[in-house]
Amino acid sequence: MGIDFQNVEFKYSKKASKKQLDNINLHIDAQDEFIMIVGHTGSGKSTLVQHMNGLLLASSGTIKVFDTNMIRSKKIKLKPVREHVGLVFQFPEYQIFESTVLEDIMFGPKNFGKTKDEARELAIKAAHLIGIKDDILERSPFTLSGGQMRRVAIAGALAIDPDILILDEPTVGLDPKGKEELMNLLVRMHEETHKTIIMISHDMNIVATLAKRVLVMDKGKLVYDGNKENLFQNQTFLKTHNLDLPTASILAMGLKEKGLITYGKLPLTKEELFQVITGDIPNE
Ligand SMILES: Nc1ncnc2c1ncn2[C@@H]1O[C@H](COP(=O)(O)OP(=O)(O)OP(=O)(O)O)[C@@H](O)[C@H]1O
Ligand SMILES: [Mg+2]
Repeated sequence: MGIDFQNVEFKYSKKASKKQLDNINLHIDAQDEFIMIVGHTGSGKSTLVQHMNGLLLASSGTIKVFDTNMIRSKKIKLKPVREHVGLVFQFPEYQIFESTVLEDIMFGPKNFGKTKDEARELAIKAAHLIGIKDDILERSPFTLSGGQMRRVAIAGALAIDPDILILDEPTVGLDPKGKEELMNLLVRMHEETHKTIIMISHDMNIVATLAKRVLVMDKGKLVYDGNKENLFQNQTFLKTHNLDLPTASILAMGLKEKGLITYGKLPLTKEELFQVITGDIPNE
């Protein structure tokens, strides 16, 4: 169960020589994964995740999402796929179309066969979970700020209660407090429900703090699939693929260069850096 990619290739245009996905092999479990996808702009991150719930279908290779073989066929049923895998777009305004926030969040559950009352209940629960205040629920979604709209889009996905939740750059447009709140919420939800979360982000501080597994995309290829520790240790690899280091790591390297601290394992978060500076744990 979960998501399986085998030799997946994809081109937006048949005529183009460039592939936007190039020989992707990948397995994602239905539970307990916290995956972050990173990579330079245009590397194929959004294209990749849109194959995970059937928004895009592969040009060649095979993709299986739970019980569904994602093939180009009129008979393919995407509804069960979308019930298992929720995707919050990079640009949430494209995902919002109802006249009030509440109706918008209710759309998913209603579409999946819930009654109006059940859908309302699920929508309100999801809205509260993501920090949408009651007075916003009756407003038109188009009067909201970017950050609020993003919350509405996330609540819409949560209201369906998918097994796997994919978020394409969910922190863009949020202020630092909103960012932290959203991250805390996702972590709490992941810990309580064991749902698999897949998140695209350019923010290496979030990757360093949250990721259990990191995927790196470059020019349509999956060039890394592993833990964050090995990724951030490899400076040459990071340079080759245009990836930044977390702020704490940059700081640690600067302090080490000046001979002010020593460490064996590069600190990735401010907590780890603090431990090295204060000598709280032997880090040699
Ligand atoms: N609808 C489309 N039609 C044609 N080409 C597209 C389309 N969407 C994306 N592309 C191209 O496919 C490649 C991968 O794009 P994608 O949006 O998946 O990258 P990304 O890694 O998500 O980038 P970003 O970090 O900027 O969001 C890019 O070269 C992009 O120009
Ligand atoms: Mg993208």
